[in-house]
Amino acid sequence: MANFVPADDFDLVIFGGTGDLALRKLIPALYHRARDGQITTSSRIIAASRGDLDRDTYLARVEEALRTHLREDDFQEEHWHALRERIHYAQADAMSPDHWGALCDLLAGHEDRVRVAYLATAPRFFGPIAQGLSTNGLVTEQSRIVLEKPLGRDYESAREINEQVGKCFAENRVYRIDHYLGKETVQNLLALRFANSLFEPLWKRGAIDHVQITVAEDLGVGGRSEFYDRIGALRDMVQNHMLQLVCLVAMEPPSSLHHDAVRNEKIKVLHALHPITENNVRNMTVRGQYKAGAIKGETVPGYLDELGGNKSTTETFVALKLEIDNWRWSNVPFYLRTGKRLNAKHSEIVVQFQDVPHSIFPEQEFNVQPNRLIIRLQPDEGVELSLMAKEPGPGGFDLRPVALDLSFEETFGIRYPDAYERLLMEVLRGNPALFMRRDEVEAAWQWADSIIEGWSSTKQKVESYVAGSWGPSGSSLLLDRDGRSWQPES
Ligand code: BG6
Repeated sequence: MANFVPADDFDLVIFGGTGDLALRKLIPALYHRARDGQITTSSRIIAASRGDLDRDTYLARVEEALRTHLREDDFQEEHWHALRERIHYAQADAMSPDHWGALCDLLAGHEDRVRVAYLATAPRFFGPIAQGLSTNGLVTEQSRIVLEKPLGRDYESAREINEQVGKCFAENRVYRIDHYLGKETVQNLLALRFANSLFEPLWKRGAIDHVQITVAEDLGVGGRSEFYDRIGALRDMVQNHMLQLVCLVAMEPPSSLHHDAVRNEKIKVLHALHPITENNVRNMTVRGQYKAGAIKGETVPGYLDELGGNKSTTETFVALKLEIDNWRWSNVPFYLRTGKRLNAKHSEIVVQFQDVPHSIFPEQEFNVQPNRLIIRLQPDEGVELSLMAKEPGPGGFDLRPVALDLSFEETFGIRYPDAYERLLMEVLRGNPALFMRRDEVEAAWQWADSIIEGWSSTKQKVESYVAGSWGPSGSSLLLDRDGRSWQPES
């Protein structure tokens, strides 16, 4: 049974308060936390945005968003009424901080409570908003700032944002979001690896053959096409979410759960990533772009159609082979793939162990497969260990892979909270462990930048793939060349 401890009184200011992230993710997450009694009645959620709205108009938008984005049985009038009392609206323009009077008035007299500025805006506003908070005297002893992804579009822009924000907020007050770190199953990686003694002796070269990480989506870019076209899958998913997953799988055991103990181990992995440059980019990476196809029987347009017929070489799929230059992982490749408009929404980490060193079961008769540990991130979160077993029967001797299968939802029988629920509570409680430190973000960008430069200098082509497939053929070839294949999706 979950234990719901309320957070201390706070003022949470959401810049970009009328935007998609605020209405689709942040406010619904706060609704759930308020419903479970974790938000005190005097805490306040203050939406700040450029629009000249009054509070009632904003509340009407929030109500509509909650009715749309919460599950039908989750929306309840009494909880909504309790939450709406805590929501306020202040007009503020990030680029003209001398027009922040309404926000200053609302915050005045509440300097002693936790104060969080959540920047759910485009990254170009991060520096100016941090500066605006500082010049308006809104940064208090208990202030924290939350920066949404994307944090820049390359190392230089990320460094510049970090510099600007760093002038107004000390590093331990800066919470850089990677929402994957708030997902239950991602945190379960820590539990699996470090609360069980079973895995650690096997968690290395010699025992593990390779690791696969798949983050597949069936949705296309939809309404975000203009934004996405400037970004592509490598910047959107690999530089952040997927590298964070790699870090959690590959890092050394931290000495404690202290945020810096964990982050110090993660940064070592990032520093040990073997560079992919123009010299090896063609062998190590595959870029893809979806064309029209069908998903679950429904016809869907191609990426270029969604862009309004414009030309584009932006990748909506990327697969890559990543190597980690350290003792633990020497010669153990990590294969990563992610893409839009694939066959299903399906994310998992597969740790494939080595073949048995000597098989007493002749190859001609038996198909002995290596053991696999599969960590299902979404949907149907769980852990599966695939083992070889004898098929039952009075005669003969046949082998078959079977799964020890743990479904978290069945086992724990609770609704899985959205990542933002946890992340918001961690910020309010002042625990930065699930957020990226400046050096992590910058190291991840440096590694990703070199791939992007490699693509550009070698003019690496984008292969097309049919929507509803598992990506371009080059993705299978990437593993084929090493005598391996992607774990079949269930
Ligand atoms: C976001 C990306 O960070 O993560 C999106 O910008 C992507 O393009 C999303 O769709 C995936 O998140 P989730 O939680 O649905 O796996």
